[in-house]
Amino acid sequence: MANLPTRKWPWRGVIEEYRQFLPVSDATPVVTLLEGGTPLVESKVLGPSLSGKIKMYFKYEGLNPTGSFKDRGMVMAIAKAKEDGATMTMCASTGNTAAAAAAYSSAAGMASVVLIPAGYVALGKLSQALAYGARTLSVEGNFDDCLRCVREICENYPVALVNSLNPYRMEGQKTAAFEVCEALGGPPDFHALPVGNAGNISAYWLGYKEYRDRGITDSLPVMLGIQAAGAAPLVHGKPVDHPETVATAIRIGNPARWNDAVKAASESGGIFRALTDEEILATYADLARYEGLFVEPASAAGVAGVRKLAHEGYFGDRAVTVACTLTGHGLKDPDRAISMAPQPETVRADVAQLLDILGLR
Ligand code: F0G
Repeated sequence: MANLPTRKWPWRGVIEEYRQFLPVSDATPVVTLLEGGTPLVESKVLGPSLSGKIKMYFKYEGLNPTGSFKDRGMVMAIAKAKEDGATMTMCASTGNTAAAAAAYSSAAGMASVVLIPAGYVALGKLSQALAYGARTLSVEGNFDDCLRCVREICENYPVALVNSLNPYRMEGQKTAAFEVCEALGGPPDFHALPVGNAGNISAYWLGYKEYRDRGITDSLPVMLGIQAAGAAPLVHGKPVDHPETVATAIRIGNPARWNDAVKAASESGGIFRALTDEEILATYADLARYEGLFVEPASAAGVAGVRKLAHEGYFGDRAVTVACTLTGHGLKDPDRAISMAPQPETVRADVAQLLDILGLR
């Protein structure tokens, strides 16, 4: 039987809540912004519309301090970098890692440098990196080019790399799997999430395995990794030279955590699937419209994948629970939201006219 811990509120952030599962000591500085502790919301419309047998849950990571799941791993990476005496951090990013690195570096009193692919970072994320005070460099190239530069610099100069190649990032991010288990009373049958650089799927798998290995839970979920069709190296089994997708967060052709992600899928009996931009955007719109959950486009990929797989009969006839991680908040990409919805009408401040427009008289 599951042997899950109970938690007291107020929430203290992932390092304090999960100290015994993390490589920290009394020497590790506390740099928390009270990340983690995000809700697991049961689907009211999209899940039930698939079949009466599928119970779908959303791990709403957009409610973290900088609006994405990256904060869980970043608090660890920054705390450990600070413990090691680093004064400067660096990352490549499609935007969310940059926002988190910038915020936590500032909170820890360190300088941060973020390399972002020119022209392909959503406005909200860019505004965050700038506001938190990161040295923000817009690189003429894609994410993979940015990461190559960051790796070379961090290997040779005293700068702490805080991409998900950093093992502490994985340690922090695995706590999301712990929280899902605690909310459901055990692991779900399936866990679906968008895959870009492939750190998150690897981290969830670490977390699920750790709870099982410690006897806290007694089973493991099947991991479903969803990529965008124009940036689906793990689906094709080879890097993509020129990745393209409207889901800019996962516009990555050569994921750094490739091997770990393949392991997560194969050990769990799971799969990688590619979805078109149209499929991802349709679910992006439906999540806001029917569930009240505003996410960024990439964050809808996991849910879109589950819908597609369900229509293909992948989940069979038995009753199953499916958890989907909604990785980032909708406010990250306001341009996309506005371009997909009808524009507001301008009206006079006149009640009679409003009643006419609304058909109320
Ligand atoms: N969803 C969002 C909103 C993301 O920002 C990312 C990755 C992913 C999913 C995929 O996670 O890389 O661990 O497989 N964003 C990174 C960044 C690449 O730079 O912010 P992953």
